[in-house]
Amino acid sequence: MKPTEVIWMNGNFVAWEDAKVHVLTHGLHYGTGVFDSMRCYDSVLGPAIFRNSEHVERLLRSAELYYMPVGYSAEQLRTAARELVARNGLRSCYIRPIVNRGYGTMGLNPLDAPVDVTLACWEWGAYLGDEGKHKGIRAKVSSWRRISPQSLIPHAKASGQYLNNVLAKVESLKAGYEEAIILDDHGHVCEGSGENIYVVRDGEIITPGQHNSILDGVTRRSLIQIARDLGYSVVERSVARAELYLADEVFMSGTAAELVPVREIDDHVIGSGQPGEITKVLLDAFDDAIYGRSERYREWLDLVDMAAPEANDATAPGTATADAGATG
Ligand SMILES: Cc1ncc(COP(=O)(O)O)c(C=O)c1O
Repeated sequence: MKPTEVIWMNGNFVAWEDAKVHVLTHGLHYGTGVFDSMRCYDSVLGPAIFRNSEHVERLLRSAELYYMPVGYSAEQLRTAARELVARNGLRSCYIRPIVNRGYGTMGLNPLDAPVDVTLACWEWGAYLGDEGKHKGIRAKVSSWRRISPQSLIPHAKASGQYLNNVLAKVESLKAGYEEAIILDDHGHVCEGSGENIYVVRDGEIITPGQHNSILDGVTRRSLIQIARDLGYSVVERSVARAELYLADEVFMSGTAAELVPVREIDDHVIGSGQPGEITKVLLDAFDDAIYGRSERYREWLDLVDMAAPEANDATAPGTATADAGATG
């Protein structure tokens, strides 16, 4: 990980190396945090955060689901994200907002612990590799099932929940694959360890629905809209494991991974073993959207003013636009 200049913590910009938490931070012990992920692209209109609003709103919803009062409005967090990118001088980067129960109390009641809010960004290339993006990846259906809605909240992007994804990811890597495909607790296809999943059969795009314990991906929503705008039929329904193997095309999507074709699952070659036609059309259309080349989706881009006041005064404290002092 390549450090940047500053990180936004509870309303202040602090130097990267000073953005530390106490070892008795509640979230560190019990996973009591929620986070999100966004990307800023060097678009034809200038640096732009893709769907800043949708990501911030999901972050706030995740926090609410775990009883965490955030103390900053969506607008304050969107502004903080833009300012963070500008101050770090990055035209293209990954952005990680996290809200977590902080230092002050221990025990399973988190309600008295403060709520800390942090946004960091750094340069992060293709999550599943450049080759994977162009040629497709090999995936393995995990022996681990996705967290059940009877135990946790799949729709929340919560830190502790990700131990499930870590187990699946490590299992797939150790077995020689690039990514895991996780089934829901009924044995239906759910998603990748950090991506939503789609199969294409007979020209139709099929993706697991909300009741399949998916994370409601922002990229997923974007791709569904793009695909429908292009005239494709997109169906949200339960997908049987065998439909993965029988698919003409399979692809995954997520902020970190973007859109990635899947060329093999459990050693079954998918379609021709190359990225499929519909996958390629969507890849191009999605690229046009994130790089601002598509008029239709320009409202998805939140432009970053790189010359924003104080953008070069990287370590000046207390200059964030949000109010300081989020509390529990
Ligand atoms: C488990 C999981 N599913 C799906 C996604 C895709 O969501 P998005 O497109 O909003 O990044 C992610 C990434 O955030 C994820 O962690």
